[in-house]
Order: sequence, then C-alpha cells, then structure tokens
Amino acid sequence: MTIKSLGYVGVTSGQLEAWQQFATGVLGLQDVSADLGAESGEAFFKIDDHPYRLFVTPGDNETLAVCGWETHSAQGLDEVADALGKAGVDFSWGSPELIARRRVQNLLSFTDPAGNHHEAFWGVVSDFSVFNSATGVSGFVTGDQGLGHIVLPAPNFDDTAAFFTDVLGFGLSDLMKLRFTPDPEEPVKRLWFMHCNRRHHSLGLFEMPMPAGCVHLMLEVNEIDEVGRCNDRRIAAGVKLTGTLGRHANDHMLSFYMRSPSGFDVEYGADGRTIEDWSDYAVFESTVASFWGHDFSVGQMD
Ligand SMILES: [Fe+2]
Repeated sequence: MTIKSLGYVGVTSGQLEAWQQFATGVLGLQDVSADLGAESGEAFFKIDDHPYRLFVTPGDNETLAVCGWETHSAQGLDEVADALGKAGVDFSWGSPELIARRRVQNLLSFTDPAGNHHEAFWGVVSDFSVFNSATGVSGFVTGDQGLGHIVLPAPNFDDTAAFFTDVLGFGLSDLMKLRFTPDPEEPVKRLWFMHCNRRHHSLGLFEMPMPAGCVHLMLEVNEIDEVGRCNDRRIAAGVKLTGTLGRHANDHMLSFYMRSPSGFDVEYGADGRTIEDWSDYAVFESTVASFWGHDFSVGQMD
C-alpha cells in the first residue's frame, strides 16, 4: 500500500463566509487563511500539525474539489505514478505553483473512473504550530490515520471499486447493499468501505450520483463530549441535522451528521475503532448502518 492516509480535502464553493462560519464556529477548526496567504475567496483550515487539512477554493459550483492522499516518500509517490501508468490511467504531475499552494514536496493529479478528482503527494511542509481550535476543541484524531474518511459517489461502481483496490491498493473493510423502497425489484445500491491504514475506513464508495460530488466527510474528535458540544454549536448556528446521533456498526464511530454549506454532509464523531492487524480482520456485509441511532430521515425533512 503506497497511499498511507487521506491527507487533505478541498471544496469548491462560492460561499466563503458560510464555510468560515461553519468550519470554525461549528466544527471548531482553526482558520489559517491569513497565515497561508489565501487569495480572495479562498480559505484554509487546520486541525492538527499539518498546515491545513481542509481548504475552500472559489467557484460557481458547490462541489467537492479534490481528495489529497498522502504517501510517505518520493518513492511512495513514484509507486502511485507507476500503478496509474500501468493501468493506463491519465495523471499529471503538479506544477511548481500547485505544489507550493498545497505545501508539499511533490504531487500528481488524477481522476477516478467515477470522475472524482484526486491528488497524491509526499512531504508535507509544516511549521508545527499547535492546533488552536476556534471553539476550544481539544483535538482531532489524525496522525497515521489521516484526516478522517470521505465517502464519494461511484455510479459506475465496478470500475471505481476496482480502481481503488487493484490500482491504488486499498483494502475492502466492509460493505452494504441498500434499497430505498420496499420494492424487491429496486436494484440495490452498493456502499463499500475501504482502508489504507489502521482507521477502519478512509474511503467509502456509494453507487449513486451526488450533485455535490461527495456523500460525506468524517472528522473524528478526541472524546465523545466534543461530539455533543459540536451538536450544541450546530443547533445555535442553525445548521441542518442530517443524521441523528448513533454508533456505526462498521467503524463503531459515535457520531451525528450535518449539512455543510456546499450541500454534502459532514459526519462528526468520536470513539471509532482501529484495526491493528488487517490479517486478523474478516470483511463483512451489514444490513444496517448502525448499532443504534443515525436516523437519516431527518435529512429529508425541510
Ligand atoms: Fe462515515
């Protein structure tokens, strides 16, 4: 496995102010836009010792812009390039300008078979300034587990799943088959969860198109009380709840879901499990998302 973790996520949005309020005031991230020389309409948010983990780039569409995947070294990035080349997948090396903006040593850009945009990189440039949450969040679970996890649309499911497993080396963690009506004739939509480190999953693929280019982004805080405090801030800010508090059956995350300014959801959780030895782990299919809670019908209500 040459990809080690989810390093950063970028969002294209024309709602800079809404993102700043949501990211700092609700999620508790640190706005480091001024420190990082953000241009007009751009913002950078820090959650740990990386210079940033989430950024907003200006645009007319509200959509996920890119997922940045961290490799450990120049060799790791070369291995990604080799794998993409052998699979016949187009990719481009980052320009000096893009490399400087992302604050890494080198990167390459590619698109998965579903059209989701990705970058792979090595060598984060950090001043190791201490994370200083806008709302007093004690800290996020990152490090070798990366930023968190992201679930992406993959309507052409077989090709996209094979790309991440066979080309990029992700491992399948668990899977679900969903129907949204009682009609047994309704084709199932697959939802697969994949790992690239000891976090139960860093990537999910869902067999549906999503207008915002993302199903959800998950951030994990250090303790359960931080989840409750974030929910209090969400209520005060009038941010829509899209999934009630619950504990997931796959990664055991205790979390709730809310709507981001760009229309996709952010899951905010704690107490997720890690798998120290994947050779001792058995892939499973679950017929429920959660042991309890996580009522997603609230997201359908006005
Ligand atoms: Fe999730």
